[in-house]
Amino acid sequence: MTKRKNPFAASWTYEPAPESTDHIQIKKKYDLFINGEFIKPQNNKYFETVNPANDEKIAEVALAESEDVNKAVKAARNAFKGWSALEPKERGKYIYRIARLIQERAREFAVIESLDGGKPIRESRDIDIPLAANHFFYYAGWADKLEYAFPNRKAKPLGVAGQIIPWNFPLLMAAWKLAPALATGNTVVLKPAETTPLTALKLAEIIRDSGIPKGVVNIITGAGKTGAEIVNHPDIDKISFTGSTAVGKYIQKAVAGTPKKITLELGGKSANIIFEDAAIDQAVNGVIDAIFFNQGHVCCAGSRLFIQESVADTVIQKLKDRMSTLIVGDPLDKNTDIGAINSKRQLKTIENYIKIGINEGGEIYQTDCKLPKKGNWCAPTLFLNLSQSHKIVQEEIFGPVLAIQTFRTIDEVVEKANNTPYGLAAGVWTQKGAKIFYLTQKLKAGVIWANTFNKFDATSPFGGYKESGFGREGGLHGLKPYVKFE
Ligand code: NAI
Ligand code: MG
Repeated sequence: MTKRKNPFAASWTYEPAPESTDHIQIKKKYDLFINGEFIKPQNNKYFETVNPANDEKIAEVALAESEDVNKAVKAARNAFKGWSALEPKERGKYIYRIARLIQERAREFAVIESLDGGKPIRESRDIDIPLAANHFFYYAGWADKLEYAFPNRKAKPLGVAGQIIPWNFPLLMAAWKLAPALATGNTVVLKPAETTPLTALKLAEIIRDSGIPKGVVNIITGAGKTGAEIVNHPDIDKISFTGSTAVGKYIQKAVAGTPKKITLELGGKSANIIFEDAAIDQAVNGVIDAIFFNQGHVCCAGSRLFIQESVADTVIQKLKDRMSTLIVGDPLDKNTDIGAINSKRQLKTIENYIKIGINEGGEIYQTDCKLPKKGNWCAPTLFLNLSQSHKIVQEEIFGPVLAIQTFRTIDEVVEKANNTPYGLAAGVWTQKGAKIFYLTQKLKAGVIWANTFNKFDATSPFGGYKESGFGREGGLHGLKPYVKFE
């Protein structure tokens, strides 16, 4: 897929060979996965998914329109009776099988994830794909233990779940949504994002191979219009959405007054707070992970950094030094730290915010790393001289752009950290346990990391407050949005 450089050409820079795409099977054209098989879309329309690292087309993917959504919902509805009545431990077996098949094909998944979405192979290989398998393993275990999850209550599935996922963690978000829905006995219509549909379609192949009854999982592709068709379909019982706050608000309005249940996992502008007593080098590394992981396309990214004044100069200098070592480039290269921006549209959004930051008087620092000529790229960026009212402090950028402010007292930083419409995550860097406990009480955020950031685990719940959404995914809490009680 990717063109290798001529190894004999004279070059002064060392360029290791990127992850090979040999033996990675990507079809030219993908159909819709409905009722256990791949079928053509009713109107025979397809759209392209490209590789954001070189703008080249990878494959064509079916565009699901209203008739196709209907078919998928019908298949899920027909499958619901049998699936929900199946002995729970049998349901668990299928989910285990899916987990194992993901593990077996992990390398293939990792390469496709990086090709289609632009994230560094190191991240898809070590984080996204193993975590996706873990989610299926974890929820497979709950399938026949729901009476322990909900003691003295009889949990029943809701019915057909419509699940709409974003482009930043395509396979992982599919796993977050599918695994708990299936474990609790629901059937599903899932739609991946239009720029990153390929790993969900690969997952569809695995789901078919797992032998799970037909129609239990249906995976259809398309953009916002297809998503809206799912949201508005009258025979859907539950909507689970991860994506932008704007679309989240639209979905909430669309289901208001209907019996549909809903969970929303939306944007964020998470605070990362460094106190003067923190282990500074460790904290600086943590800041790098918090904002540059997955090019900053992370809903819980630590995009607002607060540094205690007495250590601000030291932290900022170390941060700039560390940033200058980051390698931006080929997502398939194992040494890459920051891959391609997911789409042209997202790159425009980020560049626009950078302009706004400069125009509003922020002091910009960008590393002078060499960016590839083709594709979508953004150098790691930080802004200084900001106050709470700056747009780049308030709004989600969803790119490798960090907004830095300083503070003197703990109460001042609590107030600043909470002064945002969002409430997804926060990070605290200090050696003092008492400070950590105080802040976990005071910060309005769904997840608070202490002396680390962006750590995820299938056993722990994730979700937001305020405009970051509601409902939890992961852990025991992640079962609840998919059940009702008699
Ligand atoms: P988006 O919210 O439009 O897309 C997410 C998913 O929703 C995709 O599958 C899309 O096809 C679907 N969708 C779009 N419109 C819909 C509608 N009316 N009804 C149902 N489904 C719909 O996100 P977009 O436009 O790609 O990114 C814009 C901004 O959103 C980003 O800059 C970022 O700030 C934020 N975002 C946040 C994410 C998160 O994980 N919290 C993920 C993706 C984007
Ligand atoms: Mg793509």
